[in-house]
Amino acid sequence: MLLYSAIAATLRDQIAQGVLRAGERLPSIRQLASGHGVSPATAVQACLQLEREGLVQARPRSGYYVLASPEPPRSTAPRRRVPRPVDNPALARLHELLARTDLLALHNASPATELLPAKALATSMARTLRRSQQQALDYAPPQGHAPLRRLIAQRYARLATDVSPDEVVITAGSMEAISLALRVLTQPGDVVIVETPTYHGILQAVAAHGLKVLELPHRQGGGLDLARLDVLLEQTPVRAAVLVPNFHNPLGTVLADADKQALLDSCSRHGTVVIEDDIYGDLGWSGERPPPLRHFDTRGQVLTCSSFSKTLAPGLRLGWILGTGWTDALVRAKYHSTVGNPTLPQLALVDYLEQHDLDRHLRRLRQQLADNACRMQHAIARYWPEGTRCSSPKGGLSLWLQLPDDGDADALAAAAMGEGIGISPGALFSSRGDYRDHVRLGCGMAWDARLEKAVQRLGELAAEAVQP
Ligand SMILES: Cc1ncc(COP(=O)(O)O)c(C=O)c1O
Repeated sequence: MLLYSAIAATLRDQIAQGVLRAGERLPSIRQLASGHGVSPATAVQACLQLEREGLVQARPRSGYYVLASPEPPRSTAPRRRVPRPVDNPALARLHELLARTDLLALHNASPATELLPAKALATSMARTLRRSQQQALDYAPPQGHAPLRRLIAQRYARLATDVSPDEVVITAGSMEAISLALRVLTQPGDVVIVETPTYHGILQAVAAHGLKVLELPHRQGGGLDLARLDVLLEQTPVRAAVLVPNFHNPLGTVLADADKQALLDSCSRHGTVVIEDDIYGDLGWSGERPPPLRHFDTRGQVLTCSSFSKTLAPGLRLGWILGTGWTDALVRAKYHSTVGNPTLPQLALVDYLEQHDLDRHLRRLRQQLADNACRMQHAIARYWPEGTRCSSPKGGLSLWLQLPDDGDADALAAAAMGEGIGISPGALFSSRGDYRDHVRLGCGMAWDARLEKAVQRLGELAAEAVQP
């Protein structure tokens, strides 16, 4: 890496991690030069690089200052008291967007292939096929390959969370884990709680099982509205709550430990089971790994779902559910639907986890995601219409934006698609198509000139979408 790029990268990280905040001055050219042992000209080049990226601004005779990121969205969720089936036509068309492999995929909340350990995974696949061909080509047990279940249980032990390999059920991603949990827990017509906004896959799973939903809003400034949860649970028998407590999609928020505890207490009082989707738990940008809800569960009332989709590769389709008292029922449901997960990826993943340091990969990935998101936030501040609001996530893979003046996010998404850019309109993230002035952008792609151009073009299209 060039000297000035290395200095720029250090400063960028400090901005991403909040060490240097909006409005604060960067160290002076003299301080940067002597601190890094480079010439003042190299230090200036580093600052100019950050200025080109829209992260800082030069003030004459004063230095370089960190530019403000946009304000967070002021999403107001409608307060519906009556449980209703999911009724959102936008969800029915989602598969068309997902089928478009020609788009610049800002609609996906997944890490780009270049951020994944693709070579190491390919080597593990090849080695597994060579060494264990017969096993790899045979059926796997419906519950999943035992060594993989043990390695997953081991990772929870490091979070001071007691999990037995006997209750780990391997699934085709977190999505199947959630579907199996709903299948085992609910009957059509039952009521479940979902967050608003929430991941559209959860809404689709709930709809597919013929369930009714009550929506639990997030408070301004983060955190679930737990007072509202109590009201909802008092009024209606609720079978399950499907929640994403760590690095929520699309908000990027984390539920505080005390709130996790309070949430479990409320749900336990009302006999409501919690289906926890912890798929982003390892993707905290500061390196912090918040405990899963399961860590606080003393009554066996939480079904934790997760996967390697966001950390190793979505195409492996390797996820799991911690079944607690429902493990047998979940294994039966898994057998009825797919017999079991494909064997080769399970064996190859065990090989990968034994040969490589997953945590080392995660450290790098988190850093890259934080960096991508920071650059994207600043590009939004620079190129999108004034008044555009943008979330400040603590981790995960999404930015949640609100257009000014009730801008039309559906029109923006359609115009973007016409120019080869995929984005997710806000209407996908609620049971009734709310958030029509919001969009979600994935931040799993490494920042480069093409991406910057796309965010700039989106800003121009957004300006047209907010025209009266
Ligand atoms: C919150 C959440 N859960 C589940 C999924 C799907 O995960 P998987 O690929 O493991 O099925 C996603 C994907 O975006 C997600 O954001």
